Amino acid sequence: MERSNAVGVSFFGKGSISLLPEELKKRGVKRGLIITDSFLYKSGAADKVGERLLEAEAEYAIYYLVQPNPTVMIVNECLHAAKTLQVDFLVAVGGGSAIDTAKAVSIVLENGGRVEEYEGVNKSKRKGIPIVAVNTTAGTGSEVTAFYIVTDPERYSKMCMVDSNCMVSIAVNDIDFMMTMPPKLTAATGMDAMTHAIEAVLSKKAVPITDKDAMWAITAIKDYLPRAYQNGSDEEAREMMAYAEYTAGMAFSNSGLGMVHAMAHALGGMLNLPHGVCNAVLLPYVMEFNGSFPEMAERFKKVAQALGIPSYRCMQGEDLVHACTRFIRDLSHSLSLPESLKELGTGMLDYETLAETAMRDVCMKDNFFMPAKSQVVEVYRRAFEHKS
Ligand SMILES: [Fe+2]
Repeated sequence: MERSNAVGVSFFGKGSISLLPEELKKRGVKRGLIITDSFLYKSGAADKVGERLLEAEAEYAIYYLVQPNPTVMIVNECLHAAKTLQVDFLVAVGGGSAIDTAKAVSIVLENGGRVEEYEGVNKSKRKGIPIVAVNTTAGTGSEVTAFYIVTDPERYSKMCMVDSNCMVSIAVNDIDFMMTMPPKLTAATGMDAMTHAIEAVLSKKAVPITDKDAMWAITAIKDYLPRAYQNGSDEEAREMMAYAEYTAGMAFSNSGLGMVHAMAHALGGMLNLPHGVCNAVLLPYVMEFNGSFPEMAERFKKVAQALGIPSYRCMQGEDLVHACTRFIRDLSHSLSLPESLKELGTGMLDYETLAETAMRDVCMKDNFFMPAKSQVVEVYRRAFEHKS
C-alpha cells in the first residue's frame, strides 16, 4: 500500500520494499549512503536494501557504526563519509537511531556548520538532501516526524531538533524488516510509541485531528503490542504496530510531546539508557502529575476511552487518572519493563541536574502545564523510589 503526504511517500505492508526501486528511479538519485548499525549490517538487512538501490541503478556505500542514542561523533563520521563519497541521497536502515543520524547528516550536508547549531526549532534554512527510511522497529515514528535527537556526551545531554527541513522523502514500513526484532526491543520501542500517542493527547497543542490519530494509535498499541512481544512471528501484530507507531508519529509531529519526553531525554542523555525504557518508566508518574490538574480531566477521558477502560465516562479526578496509570503500569509489567528508575541500575540520581536539563528540553514547552523545577525533581524522585 502507498500513502502520499505533503512530506513524501510512505510504503506499508509485507514486501513493500519492492516498491522502492521505481520510486528512486522517478527521483533520479544515483549515489547513496546506507546508514545502519553493525547488527543490521551483519544480519544482511542493509544488503537487502542495497539490492533495491542497485535495481534503481544507484550505487551505494554502507556506514554501519550507528549506536543507540547516536552521538555528535557518529553524526560527524557519517557526514565525513557522505561528503567524501559525494552522495546525493541517504538511506537509513534501522529504528530511530539510524533515521535520526540520517536526518542530522542531511541537514548539515545542505546547510553547513556543526550539528550542535541546529538544536531547537527550525534552525536550518535549506531542505536537507533526500532521505529514504527503511524502518526496522515499531516505535519512534521518526520516518514521519520533523524531530531528531543527537546526544552530546560532553554536556551529558540529548539535543532535540525540530526541523521541517529534515523530513524523510520515502518511508518504508515493511514488516519483513521488523520480524526479527527481539522481545526486549519490541517492548521498549512499542512503549515509546504509546508515550508519543498519550503525550499527543495530553499536549497543549492537541487538536481534533491529532487526537484522532493519537487515540487510534493508543488503542492499536494496547491491543497489538502484547501480541508482538509474546510472539515476534505474529504478522498481524507486527503490521498493526507498524501502522500504530506511524500514526502516533503523525500525531505528535503536529501536537508536540511533553514532560515525559523532556525528562526521558535528560535521563537518557546523562546515563545512555534506551529511550523507550526511560519513557515507559516515567510515563505513569508524569501522567499522575499532569492529571492532578482538574483542567486535564477531558483529556484523560480521551486516553481512558482509547485504552478501553470500562465506565470511564463515570470516572472523575483521581479515579480517572489512576485507572489510566494502572492500565499503563500493567501493560509495562506484561512486557517485563521496569516499574522504577532504581530497577534500571542507575545508582543514585542527580535529580537537580536532570530537572534543569529537562526544563530546557524543547518538548517541555508542549506540556499542558509548565512545571516548576521542584515539581520535575519530585517526579524523578517518585519514579526512582516507585511512589505513586
Ligand atoms: Fe520518543
